[in-house]
Amino acid sequence: MDTEKFLDSIISKHQKHDSEVLVQISQCSLAVGAEGIFNSLKERLPDDISVDYSGCDGACFVAPKIHYDKDIGHYLEDNSVVNSADSIVRDYIDSQTRIVLENAGTMSASGIYGYLRSMGFSALGRALEQSPEEIVDLIEGSGLKGRGGAYFPVSVKWRSALSVNSQERHLVVNAEEGEPGVFKDRHVMESVPFRLIEGALIAAYATRCTSIRLYVNAEAHLSFNRMQKALDICRAEGFLGSKIMGTDFTIEIEIMKGAGGYVCGEESTLLNTIEGKRREPRLRPPFPTESGLNQQPTIINNVETLCNLPWIILNGSDEFKKIGDIDTPGTKIISLSGSVSTPGVVEVPMGSNLQDLVIKFGDVSNINDLSGIAIGGPSSGVISSSAAANLSIGPGFIDGKSVMLGAGGVIALSKETDVLQVVRKLSEYNANESCGKCTPCREGTQRLLEMMGTGRKGTPIDRTGLGGLAEVINAASLCGLGQAAGNPVLSYNTYFE
Ligand SMILES: Cc1cc2nc3c(=O)[nH]c(=O)nc-3n(C[C@H](O)[C@H](O)[C@H](O)COP(=O)(O)O)c2cc1C
Ligand code: SF4
Repeated sequence: MDTEKFLDSIISKHQKHDSEVLVQISQCSLAVGAEGIFNSLKERLPDDISVDYSGCDGACFVAPKIHYDKDIGHYLEDNSVVNSADSIVRDYIDSQTRIVLENAGTMSASGIYGYLRSMGFSALGRALEQSPEEIVDLIEGSGLKGRGGAYFPVSVKWRSALSVNSQERHLVVNAEEGEPGVFKDRHVMESVPFRLIEGALIAAYATRCTSIRLYVNAEAHLSFNRMQKALDICRAEGFLGSKIMGTDFTIEIEIMKGAGGYVCGEESTLLNTIEGKRREPRLRPPFPTESGLNQQPTIINNVETLCNLPWIILNGSDEFKKIGDIDTPGTKIISLSGSVSTPGVVEVPMGSNLQDLVIKFGDVSNINDLSGIAIGGPSSGVISSSAAANLSIGPGFIDGKSVMLGAGGVIALSKETDVLQVVRKLSEYNANESCGKCTPCREGTQRLLEMMGTGRKGTPIDRTGLGGLAEVINAASLCGLGQAAGNPVLSYNTYFE
């Protein structure tokens, strides 16, 4: 059977499962009563209207939300609940460029039919009808870079693993996402779980992997459960396991919980924890692509990275390159929070202006009212809101100094926020998360804290001494955690007199 016929047969089987009302249930909306709405609608709706759940569409500021075509307002106990078709939500979503988050919130996250109806698994079908090398070439042509924070070219990593002669080759999906202020991978897993499975299968096929591990943050229970359910459905429907989509491609995805802690997202630490070893990084080289899981070649890719693959296969690398920045094509998902009127998850073209992004999607009326913007989590730093006017989102140090976009956390700081306190908190986080393996990070991050004192307004601090120590920690530490642990202090010295 060819893959198109396979898809048609599954789609026709699921026609009858069309759902009319979707309640958007995700981690954020659970906190504001989404589950209660779901249960109440199940009881109150007449039999001819079915109800199901999706993930959130990213407009977290008006959660909980439901998605429906018919007027069912009178069945709701609370008729202030927002419909995701309302203009307040549509304007927010439609002004984004959605590749990874396409249809998030408007298709079921519990069943496969919604995803299949929106071309789901068509890309995998097309990929399986080409050779793995053709897929690697296509991804190389698209210029896709990793979205886990380091923006390493995907095809270079893939080719490196492919160049190692081995019976076994592994793909690890990094869904650890431990750092504060970043919640995009959870959002992806909760709202488009089948897209992640499709992306991982495409990557594994292209790189001739023999196993896939999905490593989910130990505290992301909803993401874990939703992915587990989606994997079970894929297995039952022939999208996972043996002879996928009726072809000779056979592979499993094993889902597992992370070992806990920010450093577990660092790829070599992650591998150690899968092998049951201490939660600390490995010396490199060798890199995981040469000697990773069980000393075999291993590709580690982020959730968001992999979710770009189906779109690139369906639309082509040239279309992908039309979006975003010439050096870093495509989109980036931003977790926008803090002192904004409309916090949420937004997907925008790479190269978007940072200040515009905060004003437009955060609905911030006067950007100069903010005391600063924290970007990229504890491995990055804080900039003044005026400096954001000249910065655009992309790889590396976006200001050429100490501020990185990383995985895409953007937190607006209110006028009342004491920036030094924020810098101290970020530094404290790094000190607490240090695994202790190397001296510059273990001792240096503690010394930084001591030198900052309480960090309260008016505390005299030795900026030169702090800056010098931060530089040493960055230069001498063993892994990416320590190598970026000085950045909050360095950013403070640069942007706040
Ligand atoms: C301290 C630390 C934490 C990290 N946490 C994550 C994480 O949670 N998720 C992630 O994908 N990458 C994380 N990374 C980056 C990974 O090591 C790796 O570069 C990434 O998973 C590769 O995927 P990509 O190429 O698709 O971006 C972290 C790195 C460091 C140093
Ligand atoms: S830099 Fe920090 S987290 Fe990394 S190995 Fe050294 S002590 Fe551990």
